[in-house]
Amino acid sequence: MPNADYIKSMFNDISSKYDLLNDLLSMGTHRLWKNLLVKKACANSPKAVLDCATGTGDIAFKMDNMKIETIIGCDFSPLMIENANKRKLKTKSSVNFLVADVSKLPFKDQEFDTTTISFGIRNVEKLETSLNELSRVSKSLYILEFGSPKNPIWKRIYFATLKLYFPILSLLTKRSDAYDYLIKSSEQFPSGEKFCDLISKNTTFNQINYTPLFCGIAYIYEAKR
Ligand SMILES: C[S@@+](CC[C@H](N)C(=O)[O-])C[C@H]1O[C@@H](n2cnc3c(N)ncnc32)[C@H](O)[C@@H]1O
Repeated sequence: MPNADYIKSMFNDISSKYDLLNDLLSMGTHRLWKNLLVKKACANSPKAVLDCATGTGDIAFKMDNMKIETIIGCDFSPLMIENANKRKLKTKSSVNFLVADVSKLPFKDQEFDTTTISFGIRNVEKLETSLNELSRVSKSLYILEFGSPKNPIWKRIYFATLKLYFPILSLLTKRSDAYDYLIKSSEQFPSGEKFCDLISKNTTFNQINYTPLFCGIAYIYEAKR
């Protein structure tokens, strides 16, 4: 289980390099996956959207082009939010960012039509409480998260290749432990049916399904009532 203080300090420390690292480590594929998440989350033209664990605001900014009345991005790392606000200044976007923990969201019941969380849920310390909070504040939930490929050969190749990137991260940040954490947490985090069961047990959503991406390296989960 991730420790919240450790996670917060890690993301604070890598915040200024986070976007560069994302592009390098995923070879740009995170952009395709995020576009797909936004496409699914906005298919029913939501009016109010929340992006939790927003980081530097990638998902929130992508939604800004979609004529949504209210877009809020929140994250518990103040430095990630500072970087999101710097991006906001450059783009003159109408997205609002705030510091908030996904396990205790400062919003009313069902305030949002849609909530997204991209590469964030794996990192929350209180997973069950956080899923419950996400379902309390929103009518639908869209999650993008790493997982483990089901095919054992592909799984071995994938995680072995990931380990080759380790020196790049050590060079770019003082937190090489962040990369070790990324690999271990992705290997251990429940994915596919197992994660759908967790959503079902800890939320009031009753229509839950998932789409594997790149043979199960990542998954998009959709939950509605
Ligand atoms: C891997 S980054 C993802 C950022 C962004 N959503 C993206 O897809 O690029 C994970 C983010 O989750 C945030 N986070 C982790 N636990 C959190 C929590 N309990 N509440 C709010 N944010 C959290 C971290 O601060 C970090 O910015």
